Amino acid sequence: MIKITFETPKLSETRPFYENVWGLTNVPSANEHAEFLKAEGEEPWVFGFTHGEQAKMTCLRLGLATRALVDQAAEILTAEGVALLSEPGLLAGPGDYYGLAFVDPDGRAVELSATDKKINARSQNPLKPSRLSHVVLNSMHARATADFYVRVLGFTVSDWYEKDAIIFLRCNDDHHCVGIGQGSNAKLNHAAFLLPDQEAVVRAGERVQSYGALPIWGPGRHGPGGNVFVYHKDPSDFVIEYTAELIQIGADTNWVAKEWRRTPENANVWGTGGPTASAIELMSGEHSS
Ligand SMILES: [Fe+2]
Repeated sequence: MIKITFETPKLSETRPFYENVWGLTNVPSANEHAEFLKAEGEEPWVFGFTHGEQAKMTCLRLGLATRALVDQAAEILTAEGVALLSEPGLLAGPGDYYGLAFVDPDGRAVELSATDKKINARSQNPLKPSRLSHVVLNSMHARATADFYVRVLGFTVSDWYEKDAIIFLRCNDDHHCVGIGQGSNAKLNHAAFLLPDQEAVVRAGERVQSYGALPIWGPGRHGPGGNVFVYHKDPSDFVIEYTAELIQIGADTNWVAKEWRRTPENANVWGTGGPTASAIELMSGEHSS
């Protein structure tokens, strides 16, 4: 399971947006300078925010199945010459997570975590996300970073856009849980929240719109991954997505990763338009907020 921590100068606007508009729930925290939010699944939190001068992702946390795998990952990373920011141990934030931290080739802080608790990620409310589905990360060296995630962390390439505009990586049945996109920085491109189906994505997007927050792109359906999408921005201008119906590759050993042309029709097979100018600008991380 994926979690992300951020810094933002707009901490006071963050919780009301995610609670009232996006469908997350505040997690009580002893730290009054931090806001943690959970989705409808049992995962203790998905997004964490603290105050900072600039809006930025501070850490990406990826889930492993067992604590033993965290220890194994520490050995693999060390053997690769990757310095650990923290050795395996209890991680900060809600929940009883055992994990480690390191810096990936883009200079991004990444945690690998596991818990002994069985976590059910299902949601009873179709308009509220059950968990994070995937993240896309900008990278100045997308192919080299994707190679690191494959070779060292055990991801598999599912598909990619030409010129490595996005390389889609999987680590479970989903077509992708991490995307690495060629860009000018190592910022978060976007984070996607999982809803049950296409109808829920359209309805949840309209619900957000009823609060006056227009989508920045969508709804539509992507070619690579086949998922339905609608993209919005949060108060800090982080790009967030409702998504559903991502292709399940699972144990399909016949899956052949392929290159997709970067066309509006592949970006959105519904034919209702490729990414808007504001979506491109916000996802690129090159906007000036
Ligand atoms: Fe996405």
